[in-house]
Amino acid sequence: MSASPAQLSLRRPDDWHVHLRDGALLQAVLPSTAAQFGRAIVMPNLSPPITTVAAALAYRQRILAALPDGSGFTPLLTAYLTDTIDPAELERGFAEGVFAACKLYPANATTNSAAGVSDLAKLSAVFETLERIGMPLLIHGEVTDAEIDIFDREAVFIERQLEPLLRRHPGLKVVLEHITTAEAAAFVAGSGANLAATITPHHLHINRNALFRGGLRPDMYCLPVAKREQHRLALRAAAISGNPRFFLGTDSAPHPRHAKEAACGCAGIFNAPYAIESYALAFEQEGALDRLEAFASEFGPRFYGLPLNEERITLVRESVSVPPRLHLNDAAGEAVELVPFHAGELLPWRLA
Ligand code: NCD
Ligand code: ZN
Ligand code: ZN
Repeated sequence: MSASPAQLSLRRPDDWHVHLRDGALLQAVLPSTAAQFGRAIVMPNLSPPITTVAAALAYRQRILAALPDGSGFTPLLTAYLTDTIDPAELERGFAEGVFAACKLYPANATTNSAAGVSDLAKLSAVFETLERIGMPLLIHGEVTDAEIDIFDREAVFIERQLEPLLRRHPGLKVVLEHITTAEAAAFVAGSGANLAATITPHHLHINRNALFRGGLRPDMYCLPVAKREQHRLALRAAAISGNPRFFLGTDSAPHPRHAKEAACGCAGIFNAPYAIESYALAFEQEGALDRLEAFASEFGPRFYGLPLNEERITLVRESVSVPPRLHLNDAAGEAVELVPFHAGELLPWRLA
């Protein structure tokens, strides 16, 4: 990477965790991701979820059809694990290059996770298959027990579920998604080559105070929910550490404004429009711009065993003003209103 005060050139990054949605919303949000990233690991929590090779192939076609002309973006699809999923279907999808990974949502942990896994013990045949074929397991790492404080659910998941899982299946290749705690960062750093984690831009910028700044702020609500400042600082340290098992995953999770600003608002932060700018700001604030390229463009593909992107992108040191709201055209040509992450702020780097 070449860094200068005026511009920054990096190998085109990939997004190792994104929600592209479907239908009207897919059309509205896909161009933001495709403009920045070469590839993305696309989450399967649609309604109904992607649980078969056929459903994944059809979804991939819908994504490709919604891409802007000339886009070189490649979606990498994932399979949604349920209590009854057939390991043979996962193995076939992985062998055919349709499924890049499996996604584990604990049942009822987050958006569209009702069909998720109720008990990891029920999936031992699935985990044995993944271990044998080297198919990555991506995990939303939160326990769902109502009696566990919401701010503790990630740390408790690591202790009660993840650590025993990795002991039972030492060969399993796991990505702990969107980590939010010092405990998660330390656990991943202290583990072997088979365990990695993605870090979102919002968890590098906000702590839990952001949810209540000047009133209740639905645009800052996501799962796992942002934690105390000490955790944000631990995530920053992990992101800039140069450890190849921490890499970029935005968890951009768009919900229309009316669904966020509601009596029971949806979890998810829409950060895709300024994602790389947001990461660049965080790395710059840490004096670590020279580490951005490895985090954004090298460590992810290496973990997944994929080639690095050959193209490059340029960030220029020009401030960009993030609009308070975006009106993005959906498939029907109607505008969907979304609040982007960093709404109303000035960001110092702009994607050329
Ligand atoms: C995601 C969504 O809306 O699909 N929401 C979120 O707050 N992150 C689901 C998820 O990644 O847990
Ligand atoms: Zn999640
Ligand atoms: Zn997600």
